[in-house]
Amino acid sequence: MANLTIRKLDEAIKSELRQRAARNGRSMEDEVRSILREAALQSPSAEPAPSDELERAELTPTESAAPGSASPRITLIVGGGIAAYKSMDLIRRLKERGFEVRCVLTAAAQQFVTPLTASALSHQRVYTDLFDPQSEFDAGHIRLGRDCALIVVAPATADLMAKMANGHANDLASAILLASNRPILLAPAMNPMMWNNPATRRNVAQLVRDGVKLIGPFAGEMAEAGEAGVGRMAEPLQIAAAADALLRPAAPQPLAGKHVLITAGPTHEPIDPVRYIANRSSGKQGFAIAAAAQAAGASVTLIAGPVELRDPQGVRVIRVEAARDMLAAVEAALPADIAIFAAAVADWRVAEQGGQKLKKDGNGVPPLQLVENPDILATIAQRQHGRPPLVIGFAAETEHLIDHATAKLQRKRCDWIVANDVSPATGVMGGDRNTVHLLIRDGDQIRQEAWPLMAKDEVATALVQRIADAIGSFAA
Ligand SMILES: Cc1cc2nc3c(=O)[nH]c(=O)nc-3n(C[C@H](O)[C@H](O)[C@H](O)COP(=O)(O)O)c2cc1C
Repeated sequence: MANLTIRKLDEAIKSELRQRAARNGRSMEDEVRSILREAALQSPSAEPAPSDELERAELTPTESAAPGSASPRITLIVGGGIAAYKSMDLIRRLKERGFEVRCVLTAAAQQFVTPLTASALSHQRVYTDLFDPQSEFDAGHIRLGRDCALIVVAPATADLMAKMANGHANDLASAILLASNRPILLAPAMNPMMWNNPATRRNVAQLVRDGVKLIGPFAGEMAEAGEAGVGRMAEPLQIAAAADALLRPAAPQPLAGKHVLITAGPTHEPIDPVRYIANRSSGKQGFAIAAAAQAAGASVTLIAGPVELRDPQGVRVIRVEAARDMLAAVEAALPADIAIFAAAVADWRVAEQGGQKLKKDGNGVPPLQLVENPDILATIAQRQHGRPPLVIGFAAETEHLIDHATAKLQRKRCDWIVANDVSPATGVMGGDRNTVHLLIRDGDQIRQEAWPLMAKDEVATALVQRIADAIGSFAA
């Protein structure tokens, strides 16, 4: 097929095409592609969709990026702040996630970074001028605002946000933002006084009302010597993750409407005010399960012993120290549809906790009498009333894994056991990977599944998927 030059088309056709493209939020070239594709599909005898020829039809390499290609396109607007240098890294982070990135630099941004850097990193032409004849022959500012899946503004300056909030369009960046019908993610960055200024507060509030999404700013040190406060731009990785989350199709939510209760981590059993009995559990597996259950749509309560892990997003986390506190927190968090006991709860505690620090007083070693802790898994699995319909225990064993886990399943009367070998050679305790066996009570039978070595995150996702698959058979 011959190459096509939109400029050479009849004025009436061009006008019709322009209106159609604007209605559909596409560039004129993309609109032509779409029309031709539709025509090709409707006419089986017609030539195959002419995408190849059309790709070459007087388009710059940037404009020829195929619509609907595997790489969603992001228009990245870089504002004039010190944090602009971080946006050069953001280009790479977005590309790592499979996005095609088209950069727009404000005049002020070019005082901090050059179009050449942005272009070299994005492998795309960079746009800086509203009145650029090369890109404005078909209203390039409209195209930049619409021919993308998302617009990211990083850094979003106070000035740019003020323009957005008030509908200004006197440069390329603000015109794109005003003409866009795509979601917009702002990563503000500015001096804390600017951020807290009532004018900025008003503008931000207006933008949030307008449906614009924000990430940050966060608290930290400013470039200005000696200043700190809220105003630092989110890190490029965080911005890329937020962009990804905005564009990712909504994940299936098989556990929507379910309350999942999870315990994780070790317990600390006090000996005196400064000493305690502990174990090597890191809590990573339980935290990963909480995050996976939350991602699957569940409302999640995570009761965690002392661990160095951050609260998973969207999860209600209750931090406890000792086994008895953990049991009390579990009972207070019921009812639950699914209870997963991944915590490594101490079996014993010291009978008499010293009120003061034990001293070496020359009378020999203090006699530490141990007493048994409550068995949280058995207590909940054997409740007469309010037993969660699915109770899952964890068995951490250093030998005879399956035998011990099977015995535990019978003894505690839970429904499933996730058995893992925690002997030192496996590196499971504190490590990031796990090899588990899932034991499932099925009437009088116990079914066994041996899972391959996986990252703890993967084990969590697989377990949640397994629960989602089985959900109908144990509904409350
Ligand atoms: C050295 C320097 C650093 C600046 N840093 C910021 C900043 O971090 N955030 C901000 O909102 N404005 C900052 N400004 C002010 C903006 O550059 C100025 O408001 C400019 O008009 C913004 O234009 P733009 O929004 O079109 O990029 C800075 C100015 C200078 C001279």
